[in-house]
Amino acid sequence: MSTLLIKNGEIITAMDRCRSDVYIQEGRIAAIGTDLDVSAERVIDAAGHYLLPGGIDVHTHFDMPFMGEVSADDFESGTAAGIAGGTTSIIDYVVPAKEQSLLEALETWKAKAKNAVADYGFHMAVTWYSDQVAREMQVCVEEEGIPSFKAFLAYKDAIMVNDEELFSMLKASRELGALIMAHCENGEIISELQEKFFTEGGTEPVYHALSRPSYAEGESAFRLTQMARSLGVPAYFVHMSCRESTKVLVEGRAEGIDLYGETCPQYLLLDDTVYEQPDFRGAAYVMSPPIRPKGHAEALWGAIRSGQIQVVGTDHCPFNLKGQKEMGREDFRKIPNGAAGIEDRLKLLYTYGVLQKRITLQQLVAVTSTNPAQIFGMYPRKGTIAIGSDADIVIWQPKGEGTISAETHFHKVDTSIFEGMKTEGGPAVVIAAGRVQFENGKLDVEPGAGRYLPRWLNT
Ligand code: URP
Ligand code: ZN
Ligand code: ZN
Repeated sequence: MSTLLIKNGEIITAMDRCRSDVYIQEGRIAAIGTDLDVSAERVIDAAGHYLLPGGIDVHTHFDMPFMGEVSADDFESGTAAGIAGGTTSIIDYVVPAKEQSLLEALETWKAKAKNAVADYGFHMAVTWYSDQVAREMQVCVEEEGIPSFKAFLAYKDAIMVNDEELFSMLKASRELGALIMAHCENGEIISELQEKFFTEGGTEPVYHALSRPSYAEGESAFRLTQMARSLGVPAYFVHMSCRESTKVLVEGRAEGIDLYGETCPQYLLLDDTVYEQPDFRGAAYVMSPPIRPKGHAEALWGAIRSGQIQVVGTDHCPFNLKGQKEMGREDFRKIPNGAAGIEDRLKLLYTYGVLQKRITLQQLVAVTSTNPAQIFGMYPRKGTIAIGSDADIVIWQPKGEGTISAETHFHKVDTSIFEGMKTEGGPAVVIAAGRVQFENGKLDVEPGAGRYLPRWLNT
């Protein structure tokens, strides 16, 4: 029987902190207590370290065909980079083409995920609507353990859904006890502005940001909120980037609407001056929504602190500058949207959130692990350190300087939107499914060891 004992660490959960030993047996936490008197195959002394529940990133796009390219990290490299950063479970998006069967797309994603090194689940994107889609949503919930569906309110003429389709999805979610998640940006406004800038000669990456104003995010967040309100169903805003959608979230919740919010490190830590970088380097930051002007991030931090935003994911969707982002050198509309972040998320939130006193250590655990597990139906198997839970534990060293760089990261992409940023502390040892998978800066992962996580919501 495989056994591991972690001694003298300080367990941090979303609620508590206490010094304790943790005994792991066959991939599960078997005992927690002071001075545990058990023998184990391996003993790790974690004195001076925090023990955090393994991070959960509920927003990834591995091996995703998008805008004529395929995202650069596949399930193997993406989940491995996650492990190096203390993220031990992910939920990735299945994105069917318009008119494609959801279940057929799901089979494609199942095959892509075969080499995942860490546990994974799926959300299903709904890019069109029909009776068939409604039936397949039911199969996703009842037979496949996929109770969360994403609507893209942007990307006109590609995967965007219109109001009628969104409303139908929300109605279906009411019948199924499912959760509708939405990419909130008004695709019509964006399309019009893109056309205007381009015909006026605006080709560079900065026009990506200029054509996607924050009010377009606020508008669609508000639209979704009112639809959810009229049907009495919950809704989840993915990758929130600005004060307008934050205001909609906060006011909607105050009116009793069941809303959840997610943001990402890039929206908390960067501002739109990144698009001024010369030599097309601004293309690295082309993502949707775009990085916002200074000031928006403070609204997002405030909403995390007050519990209005419950999740920090990454929207990990990297494209190489060379050979991929380059496709849009002459036309910003052709730059594949997305960037990497799964390896950096915890370090960035610890350095710029916890150490700069914007959030507490418990809040870090809440937004990166516990809340995602609870909202998406994985708790208490995931998201906490408790007897019976999966032994996904990050032994976190509170000190130790680092610098993020594409030269050294595990992401399989030639650029980093956090290039040069200093970090403090980080994962010393990462244990996933009871096995040490990262130690001394080195990965020891097994392609295919990741298990599928079927999920059911508590509705
Ligand atoms: O730019 C982004 N966010 N790319 C991934 C697709 C999405 O909208 O989440
Ligand atoms: Zn999106
Ligand atoms: Zn995304």
